[in-house]
Amino acid sequence: MKQVKIGIIGLGARGVVLLPSIALISGVEIAAVCDAYPERVERYLELCKKHGYTPAIATGDYKKVLEQDLDAVIVSTTWTTHVQIAVDAMRAGKHVGLEVGGATCEQDCWRLVETSQETGKFCMMLENCCYGDSELTVFNMVQQGLFGEIVHATGGYEHDLREQIVTGGERKHGRMVNFLHRNGELYPTHQLGPIAKLMGINRGNRIVSVISAASKARGLHDWARRNRPGTDLAEADWKEGDVVTTILICANGETIVLTHGCSLPRPYSRDGRVQGTLGMWMEDKDAIYLEENVPQDGSNPDGEHEWTPMAEYKKQYRHPLWKEYEAKGIEKRGHNDMDYLVLCAFIESVREGNPPIDVYDTAVWMAVTYLSEQSIAMGGAPVPMPDFTCGAWINREAERPSKYALSSVYGELFGDTEEKNENY
Ligand SMILES: NC(=O)c1ccc[n+]([C@@H]2O[C@H](COP(=O)([O-])OP(=O)(O)OC[C@H]3O[C@@H](n4cnc5c(N)ncnc54)[C@H](O)[C@@H]3O)[C@@H](O)[C@H]2O)c1
Repeated sequence: MKQVKIGIIGLGARGVVLLPSIALISGVEIAAVCDAYPERVERYLELCKKHGYTPAIATGDYKKVLEQDLDAVIVSTTWTTHVQIAVDAMRAGKHVGLEVGGATCEQDCWRLVETSQETGKFCMMLENCCYGDSELTVFNMVQQGLFGEIVHATGGYEHDLREQIVTGGERKHGRMVNFLHRNGELYPTHQLGPIAKLMGINRGNRIVSVISAASKARGLHDWARRNRPGTDLAEADWKEGDVVTTILICANGETIVLTHGCSLPRPYSRDGRVQGTLGMWMEDKDAIYLEENVPQDGSNPDGEHEWTPMAEYKKQYRHPLWKEYEAKGIEKRGHNDMDYLVLCAFIESVREGNPPIDVYDTAVWMAVTYLSEQSIAMGGAPVPMPDFTCGAWINREAERPSKYALSSVYGELFGDTEEKNENY
């Protein structure tokens, strides 16, 4: 197995969380680390040592990382710095694993696409939610036609981050400036990634337009007044609406509704819902409803409104990747499971090429952010989504067969073990 040498740029909270998952993957060497804050570089070197890595270079200048002999870099910096670093990395001959976040303008998306095409290096968004257990189970069921033809889906990033955002200055966290200055769907990809994959976006389908509206912005102001009275923060003028609702319209007629809300009190939700002609999945209920399960003999006249717990369907339709992952017995920490799987997909792609989330996916998912800002600025007017594939979405080459593929389930790659999905 080819040893893969990587660099990590951006050693904030996310960079730290990624490290134990990387350490579970064999054949990876962390050869360079970088952050603009020297104390974060120092802390990371300590953590690296604990995991058995000794990076040859630890620096505050990412261009020094790009001068190294590396196969790839992971970019886990702040949202508005992603694109320039990713472009420079591809030009320096490195594949890129790009942490999630949205784009600020169309040019940035084109720069990613064109640089990847020119250099032959890929830019894979590390969208871990594409590898969630429920998301992959639903994907597997959609692939087998259990939901019928898919018509509509929703997703949300609804996470009460008021304290993290308002105290972003003292915490040196990147979200704060975005909430102060922007108003849009700032974090679309956790929800959109899995939905885009099951709707075949960029592979026979595409998003054609975006409509977005924002509520007033009150939550952060209210929180800051109560928790940081008498400071500048209490009087800050936050621009990001508390609830941003975005509708995406697809070429094949589906609609997708995204909700972004990080500044009002509420429990965490990604609000997943996938609806087809034969049934639906609803994440917040952790349940599925399939028409075929309604008894036709009249024995349960109310049965048509009953949900079946997701766990029941997982017994039969869990994605073989997750069966295999569970069989490995890896201890779970936070969303370590999804992180591990997306990083496995990334490292495999560095070895084999053609990642399951390619630069066209990355560009479209990131574009939703600047397009929603434009739509909100124009009172909710529809705005067109560029076709970053320049027509190639109509008849794309099949995805490279892989356990981590996201346009198909390659059950035969999982071997003839007892973990093998009986449906393949
Ligand atoms: N996939 C997930 O589940 C998940 C979870 C959390 C965060 N994230 C993503 O990870 C990324 C980082 O998030 P975070 O919470 O660690 O943010 P953060 O603000 O805590 O850390 C970002 C770090 O990047 C560094 N940085 C910024 N520009 C730089 C540059 N030019 N050169 C070197 N270093 C630079 C900053 O100094 C900072 O330490 C974001 O894109 C975020 O959306 C993903």
